[in-house]
Amino acid sequence: MGPTAQAPPGLALRRMELSDLGRVMEIELKAFRHPWSDDLFRQELGHLWSTVLVAERPEGPAARLVGFIIFWLVHDEVHILNVATDPEVRRQGVARFLLTECVARGRSDGARLATLEVRRGNVAAIKLYEAFGFRSVGVRPKYYSDEDEDAIVMLLDL
Ligand SMILES: CC(C)(COP(=O)(O)OP(=O)(O)OC[C@H]1O[C@@H](n2cnc3c(N)ncnc32)[C@H](O)[C@@H]1OP(=O)(O)O)[C@@H](O)C(=O)NCCC(=O)NCCS
Repeated sequence: MGPTAQAPPGLALRRMELSDLGRVMEIELKAFRHPWSDDLFRQELGHLWSTVLVAERPEGPAARLVGFIIFWLVHDEVHILNVATDPEVRRQGVARFLLTECVARGRSDGARLATLEVRRGNVAAIKLYEAFGFRSVGVRPKYYSDEDEDAIVMLLDL
């Protein structure tokens, strides 16, 4: 489990391209009650410090994009902003695969820690992060003003 996990069979990773935006937004809209706009994704693609990876799996002769992760590398820190898997393929290791790659890239780029914020009620995501060894280090009260929900701040030493 965690950072040593193998890729699920057939799954491949690559950087997101602008032509993926439609499919990424489909997943974003299914995954979140308060989704990012497509403009936010476009901005991330333009930031030098930001990496957007997509996971694809073969489907017939083509490949189907089934998940993505967005993270920043700033100084010695990897900050994870967003990760989502298409609801049709959840619990098949897609997010684990994406997070494993994010952590590996952070390490090889010299990062010493990984951080993120997660909604207090997002049990699936918290379990995913805990499986990687992330621990809760703080709370930002009512950080998500859309629903007055607290953010749990989580940290992993790399
Ligand atoms: C959280 C999310 C990204 C997990 O994606 P996923 O591809 O289904 O996750 P994986 O299959 O890689 O799961 C890896 C591990 O995470 C944990 N996990 C994932 N989903 C879980 C759930 N619903 N309940 C409990 N644990 C869960 C488990 O430990 C799991 O390992 P296991 O299946 O061997 O038990 C997905 O549920 C999602 O897209 N949610 C909506 C978007 C979101 O909330 N993103 C996080 C923002 S902070």
